[in-house]
Amino acid sequence: MSSESTTIRWEQDDTGVVTLVLDDPNQSANTVNKAFRDSFAAITDRLEAEKDSLRGVILTSAKKTFFAGGDLRDLIRVTPDTAQDLFDGGLAFKRQLRRLETLGKPVVAAINGAALGGGYEIALACHHRIALDAPGSKIGCPEVTLGLLPGGGGVVRTVRMLGITDALLKVLLQGTQYNPRRALENGLVDEVAETREEMLAKARAFIDAHPESAQPWDRPGYRMPGGTPSHPKFAANLPAFPASLRKQTGGAPYPAPRNIMAAAVEGAQVDFDTAQVIEARYFVELASGQTSKNMIQAFFFDLQAVNSGAGRPKDVPARKVTKVAVLGAGMMGAGIAYSCARAGIDVVLKDVTLESALKGKGYSEQLCAKAVSKGRTTQEKADALLARITPTAEVSDLAGCDAVIEAVFEDTSLKHKVFQEVQNVVAPDALLCSNTSTLPITALAEGVERQEDFIGLHFFSPVDKMPLVEIIKGERTGEEALARAFDLVRQINKTPIVVNDSRGFFTSRVIGHFINEGVAMVGEGVEPASVEQAAAQAGYPAKVLSLMDELTLTLPRKIRRETQRAVEEAGGTWTPHPAEAVVDRMVDEFGRTGRSGGAGFYDYDENGRRGPLWPGLREHFTQAGHTIPFRDMQERMLFSEALDTVRLLEEGVLTSVADANIGSILGIGFPGWTGGVLQYINGYEGGLPGFVARARELAERYGERFTPPALLVEKAEKGEVFTDAR
Ligand code: NAI
Repeated sequence: MSSESTTIRWEQDDTGVVTLVLDDPNQSANTVNKAFRDSFAAITDRLEAEKDSLRGVILTSAKKTFFAGGDLRDLIRVTPDTAQDLFDGGLAFKRQLRRLETLGKPVVAAINGAALGGGYEIALACHHRIALDAPGSKIGCPEVTLGLLPGGGGVVRTVRMLGITDALLKVLLQGTQYNPRRALENGLVDEVAETREEMLAKARAFIDAHPESAQPWDRPGYRMPGGTPSHPKFAANLPAFPASLRKQTGGAPYPAPRNIMAAAVEGAQVDFDTAQVIEARYFVELASGQTSKNMIQAFFFDLQAVNSGAGRPKDVPARKVTKVAVLGAGMMGAGIAYSCARAGIDVVLKDVTLESALKGKGYSEQLCAKAVSKGRTTQEKADALLARITPTAEVSDLAGCDAVIEAVFEDTSLKHKVFQEVQNVVAPDALLCSNTSTLPITALAEGVERQEDFIGLHFFSPVDKMPLVEIIKGERTGEEALARAFDLVRQINKTPIVVNDSRGFFTSRVIGHFINEGVAMVGEGVEPASVEQAAAQAGYPAKVLSLMDELTLTLPRKIRRETQRAVEEAGGTWTPHPAEAVVDRMVDEFGRTGRSGGAGFYDYDENGRRGPLWPGLREHFTQAGHTIPFRDMQERMLFSEALDTVRLLEEGVLTSVADANIGSILGIGFPGWTGGVLQYINGYEGGLPGFVARARELAERYGERFTPPALLVEKAEKGEVFTDAR
C-alpha cells in the first residue's frame, strides 16, 4: 500500500484505470473524519501528479454503505464560537471535491450501497453515477430532516444538474431517500446495475467512451436546466416557492428549508465557486443554530438509541413471532393485522362474527390494491401478504399463536372475557398484549392466568402509517415479556418506547394537555381561528380544535370522569382544568360532540368533510378584542406538554429521555423542530433556568398548572439537562 492513504485504497490496473476504494479501517462505515480528509487530500495530490498516465477513476466502497457523510457527533457540538472553523473546513473539503471533478479525466461513482447526504455529495462531484440495486440502498440528501442543508456542494451541484425547481422539489426540500431505481427515474443517478461486477463494467465502459470528462457546468455554453432565476420561465415559477415552503413547514420555525431555498436561488445566479461560498454560509448558520441540534439529537441519536434496544432487557434472547392472534377486527385490529402480515407474520384475525372479521381483512385488501396500483409493491407480494391473514369467528382457530394482540372495545370486563376465552387455546407461553389506549395494564392483567406474560402494546391510528408503539409494563409484567414485546414491535418495523403503567400512560396523558390548553383559550374568549393558527405555527401537524373534534368531545369527558373518580378514591383532590367547562357546554348545551357526531368546534357536511369553524363559538365564547400574546398561546401548548412529561419522569412512568422525545414526536405530533418534548426544554432560550423562569411567568398569568415541577427546578439549579447519558 502506498503512503498516501489509510482510509482510501488506490488500486490501479494495467489499463490506467484507478479504483479508489473507500474503506475506513476503524469504522463500520466511511465518514468525513480527519483521517478521511487527510487521505482524500493525499489521493487528490497523487491523481493530479500521475494523471498523464491515468485513463480514469472509479470511486467505490468496501463497506456495506457507499459513504455515510459527515460525523454528526462533531456537528452537534458546533457553537457560534467554532462556526468559523466549520466554515473553513467545509470550504477546504469542497475544494478537494472540485479538484476531483476538474481533473480532466473521467471520474465515476460506483455507488455500492446507501449514499445519503455527504455520501451522495461525493458522488455528485463525479462525472457519472452508477448505483447498485442492493436491498435497502438509499440515495438522496436528507439533511433537511436534521435541520441542515447539504453543505458539501450538494445544493450547488443538484441545482446545476437538475435545474433549480427539480433540485428543490425532488432532492433538497423534502430530503427524500430514493431506492436506486427511483433515483434513476428522478435523475439523481445515471445508471443502475444489478451486480457489483456489472456496476464496475459499466464504470469502465463510461471511462472508455468519455476520455476527457468534464461536468456539464464546466463546459462552454452550459445552460442551467429550466433556466436561471433571471430567465423569464424561472421567474414565472418563483412565486410558487414561498407557498410550497409554507406548506412544508406550516409556518413553524424550521430554518433549513428557508436556507436551502436561499442557497439555491442565490447560488444559481453566480459562478460555481461563489455559489459554494454562499452554500457554506447558509450551512454554517444552520449548523450553529439550535434547531439542527434539536433535530440531530432526536432524529439521529435518540431514534437510534430507542430502536437499537436501550429500553430492552439485555439478557433475554431475541425471539421472533410466527403467528399472531389479533382480537377485534375494528379500526385498530384491522390495521394491526395488516402491519403484522406485511412483516411476514401469519395473522388470525378474530371478531365476534366472520362477517366483521372479513371486513377487517378488507382493510388490508384495500391497502394492498392501492400499493399495487401505485407501483409500491407487486401483485404477487400483495397476494402473499393477504394469504397470511385468516379471518375467523372461532376461538379454536387461534391454536398455536405465539402472541395475542387484543383490540376489542375499550371495556375492562370485555377485555377480561376475551382473554379468558383465548388464553388456553393459544401457545402455552404466548405473549399477551392489549392495545388499550387508556385502561391501566395492571388491572387488565388481573383477568389472565399468566400475568407476567401480559403487557400493553399501544398502537396509534392509522396503524399502517404511524411508526410508534408505546409498550406499557404492568406491575407484574416480566422482563421476558418486555423483551418479546420489544422484539415484536421491531419485527413489524415500528419504533418501540417503553413506559410504566399509569392512567393514559405517557402519550395519551400528555396530548390531553395540548388539547386542553387550546380549548381553554377558546373558553377565555380568544378568537378560535387564532388558537388554530397558534398550534400550526408552533409546528403541530394537527390544529388543536380539529384534533379535539377527531377524538370526539365525549371521550376525554369520559376519561376525565374516570380519572377524577380514581383520584378521589385514592384520597386526592381533583383540580378541574378550565377546558372542562367549555367541553361540557359544547356537549350539553349545544349538542356538538365532534366529527363523528356531525358537529363539533367545526361544522361538517353529510360526508363528514370538515367545513368552517362553528360560527356559534364566536357568539358564545369569543370576547371581542380579547387577545393574548401569540407567543403565549404557542408556549402554553408546548409548555403544558413538556411540564407534564417532567412530572411523568418524576412519577417513574417514563424512565428514558430518548423515549420521551421520540414518543412525543412520532406518537402525538409534538413539533419536530424542538427535538421532542424534553429536548425542547434543554434547547429553550436560556436553557433549563430560562425554561423555569418562563414557566413561572405562565403560571402567574394562566394558572398553577404551569408551575415547574421540583425535578425541573432542581436540574436547572444544578446546571443539568435532560439526558440518558450516564
Ligand atoms: P372498534 O370499535 O373499531 O373495533 C372493536 C372491534 O372489536 C369491533 O370490530 C368489535 O366487533 C370487536 N369485538 C367486540 N367484542 C369482541 C369479542 N368478544 N371478540 C372479538 N372481537 C370483538 O375499536 P378500535 O378503535 O379499533 O379500538 C379497539 C381498541 O384499541 C380499544 O381498546 C381502543 O381504546 C384502542 N385504541 C384505539 C385507538 C384509536 O385511535 N381508535 C388508538 C389506540 C388504541
